[in-house]
Amino acid sequence: MNHLNLIILGPPGAGKGTQADLIARKYKIPHISTGDMFREVLKDEGSELARDLREYVEKGELVPDEIVLKMVKMRLEHDDAQSGFILDGFPRTLEQAKHLDDSLIQIGKNINLVIYLEASFNIILERLAGRRVCLHCSANYHIKYSSPKEEGVCDRCGGELYQREDDKEATIRRRVEIYLEQIEGIIGFYNQKECLLKISGDLDAGDVFKLVESQLVKSNIIGN
Ligand code: AP5
Ligand code: MG
Ligand code: ZN
Repeated sequence: MNHLNLIILGPPGAGKGTQADLIARKYKIPHISTGDMFREVLKDEGSELARDLREYVEKGELVPDEIVLKMVKMRLEHDDAQSGFILDGFPRTLEQAKHLDDSLIQIGKNINLVIYLEASFNIILERLAGRRVCLHCSANYHIKYSSPKEEGVCDRCGGELYQREDDKEATIRRRVEIYLEQIEGIIGFYNQKECLLKISGDLDAGDVFKLVESQLVKSNIIGN
């Protein structure tokens, strides 16, 4: 098997975290979500970094590239990311995409596939309003589409489920607005590299996963 260096892009609520988690478990690669990394930092309320980040993350604004790039670079240097990874929520600006590309080239790596999940706005709103997240392990649930066995409790680790601060309708609208401002530049960048796979995120989560897997086989990224 080749190295699986993957990216998953898409609007808030498209299912990036859900798909990245399925892919990471099946292919035993780390799921690197910048949003999850930031929410981890926010748990330590007293830290200076948490105070800086809260202003952006809870309001749905982009965290400055300088902070994001430093955190991602450090994460990609971990041992567990040396034979593959799936990046979720990064890159989010053309600048981030270019930086990632440059730093991968420097270490002789490249991105095999960029999964671009599209989703309609009414679906985004419904998914995010019903989402619940584990405080402990960041697993995503939905009160209607993927509810936990016991209400408010994570199936995987028994952690408490909560609603994200940025999953309020006004903040969701702002997140989508920012996404729309940035996405074209990023898509153009990966289109040129011919590694972009566009999939409808409106589909059932299992169907999206099947489409991703068949593309991985088709492009010889994984064996049959
Ligand atoms: P981040 O955490 O990345 O949030 P996001 O991009 O807005 O995306 P979400 O996590 O809301 O959605 P998702 O696509 O992962 O959907 P999920 O699988 O959970 O970023 C948060 C913030 O951090 C940003 O606003 C910014 O401030 C900052 N940040 C992060 N990265 C940054 C960067 N690179 N640069 C600058 N700032 C950055 O699914 C949603 C719900 O739907 C769940 O309940 C799930 O169970 C359900 N669901 C999923 N798929 C399906 C399906 N197919 N059918 C039915 N239900 C489904
Ligand atoms: Mg997510
Ligand atoms: Zn959990």
